[in-house]
Amino acid sequence: MERRDFLAVCAGVSSAAALAAAGAARAGVAPRLHARTRLVDARGTPVRVASLKAGTNYVFQYPYAATPCFLLRLVAPAASAGALRREDGGVYDWAGGVGPGRTVVAFSAICAHKLAYPTREVSFIRYQHEASSTSAGRVIHCCADHSVYDPAAGARVVSGPAPQPLAAIVLEWDAKRDELHALGTLGAEPFEAFFAKYEFRLATEYGGAKARASVGPATVVRELADYCRNTIQC
Ligand code: FES
Repeated sequence: MERRDFLAVCAGVSSAAALAAAGAARAGVAPRLHARTRLVDARGTPVRVASLKAGTNYVFQYPYAATPCFLLRLVAPAASAGALRREDGGVYDWAGGVGPGRTVVAFSAICAHKLAYPTREVSFIRYQHEASSTSAGRVIHCCADHSVYDPAAGARVVSGPAPQPLAAIVLEWDAKRDELHALGTLGAEPFEAFFAKYEFRLATEYGGAKARASVGPATVVRELADYCRNTIQC
């Protein structure tokens, strides 16, 4: 068992209970706990699932200040994907979406191929609802080298050079308040490779080590169109 996985198991009753409630994973490699972080809008108001537009790209930073994730409300329920496999052979079972109809999912927006990710200037990776000449639609498509992931199946790789699924973000949905929290990740975290590859850029953008700071108790959800000036289509 990896150290972080061990820590996840030992991280505390309340968090473990929350992960169980969220149905994070039912077998294989355990989720990795990070901060329990509320998803909020730019004014600090908790994001309600009812306010999310289906088929729209939303982004938020988690678990670190510089690591972007996609939040998606799909048009159809996302059920368990069955066994998913990391590049290192670890197997895990993504349990599906949360919220009404289990349509809400979240994944790291750092491509599992060569770590393309949404910046303020440009994004080569995004959810693509409509079909295009290069994919069938309802997929997360990285136009850098055409890795295609299925967000309704744990972001498993549909086609392209990516060696493993996008890391899933474990979500907890409070049905009474209709609020969302991020709890941790499931699958292969890209963060160490990401920080190593973009060290200079992130240090310039965030200043020093702040890129690696935990997002803490709340993280802002924005539409990708508001976050990024130029989203590449393919
Ligand atoms: S970086 Fe995304 S497909 Fe290559």
